[in-house]
Amino acid sequence: MTPYRTPYPVPGVVWASLPLPALLIGPDNRIAEVNPAGEIFLNASSRSLMGQPAFDRLAIDAPMDEALARARANQSPLFINDVDVTTGERAPVQCNIQVAPMHDNAEVILLIISPRDIADRLGRSMSVKSAAKSAIGMAEMLAHEIKNPLAGISGAAQLLGMNLAPEDRELADLIVEETRRIVKLLEQVEQFGNLRPPERRPVNIHDALDRARKSALVGFAAHMQITEDYDPSLPPTFADPDQLMQVFLNLIKNSAEACQRAGEGTTIRLHTFYDLSLRLRGKDGRPAALPLQIEIIDDGPGIPPDIAADIFEPFVSGRENGTGLGLALVSKIISDHEGWISVDSVPGRTVFRVSLPMVPKDKKEKT
Ligand SMILES: Nc1ncnc2c1ncn2[C@@H]1O[C@H](COP(=O)(O)OP(=O)(O)OP(=O)(O)O)[C@@H](O)[C@H]1O
Ligand SMILES: [Mg+2]
Repeated sequence: MTPYRTPYPVPGVVWASLPLPALLIGPDNRIAEVNPAGEIFLNASSRSLMGQPAFDRLAIDAPMDEALARARANQSPLFINDVDVTTGERAPVQCNIQVAPMHDNAEVILLIISPRDIADRLGRSMSVKSAAKSAIGMAEMLAHEIKNPLAGISGAAQLLGMNLAPEDRELADLIVEETRRIVKLLEQVEQFGNLRPPERRPVNIHDALDRARKSALVGFAAHMQITEDYDPSLPPTFADPDQLMQVFLNLIKNSAEACQRAGEGTTIRLHTFYDLSLRLRGKDGRPAALPLQIEIIDDGPGIPPDIAADIFEPFVSGRENGTGLGLALVSKIISDHEGWISVDSVPGRTVFRVSLPMVPKDKKEKT
């Protein structure tokens, strides 16, 4: 066997001095180069690592094949924050990963690993998580407390309105109307807190999409065209059918609202297909395939850049009167289903992609 040799000359001094573990990954996703910091991180010599499948030696808790493919296709770098990285027998280390196609050959990828030191890790990511949690807890409590007095206000306004002259009655009606809107908003907050664990069973994805589509077309998406581009042979997924439909409905709703707000875009495309290359580390630590892909694609204005990085966080919204809970709920449901959601958005084309597992062998319905 001929030894694996890198065809990509690297300025040796820079490479050796880089204080972060770095790898060059060839077009076949095999390791083509490792710097000295990388050798220490992987606890192996560069000679023994070269030519090895990169993600065999380096288990990263994110769909890396997809990330690399995207970096190559777009010829642009990509950042993946707060992922667990495992090498060999070692316990996972939380890291930020940077992936960049090489300047002169986009097929070759530079991958830099920045391990987050313990203090930073405990400090920041925990505080983000608990901030989100306590924000939701607080909002739930407030929602509950505000609903009672609101009912009183609305009732009093209705009574007042009955004895008023027509021109003043409008004002009383306004109070009633606005109170109703607040109650609706509060109910959404409460619903978020009440999400039950999924009751999973084999589900036909197209049935769930159809339900969402029909419900959207008679309501908020009546002004849109929703087209179906399905792979009819797509096998079932293992999910809670109601929660799955809720995910699709939320995504369609966001698309419809963004298009309407901007007066741009008229079409939502529902696209399903099979792609075996996407793998995530499952609960048992072993890679689990997420081959069922569902994309909700719109031709609207795109996600506002100032909130793009945070749209899955609760209470982040780019629209007036938005609670910002839609996508937080979607991402919670998807992660309860051990799936993955990603988004790609430029003006004129926004794609939310949901990736789901198949039915586990022991859960298949006996026929
Ligand atoms: N398809 C899309 N096109 C453009 N922007 C989008 C799209 N989907 C989401 N967004 C942006 O992401 C924000 C967050 O969405 P999310 O569903 O979490 O909250 P919301 O729609 O504002 O409120 P809620 O869903 O709770 O009523 C939206 O306000 C919008 O600015
Ligand atoms: Mg929404």
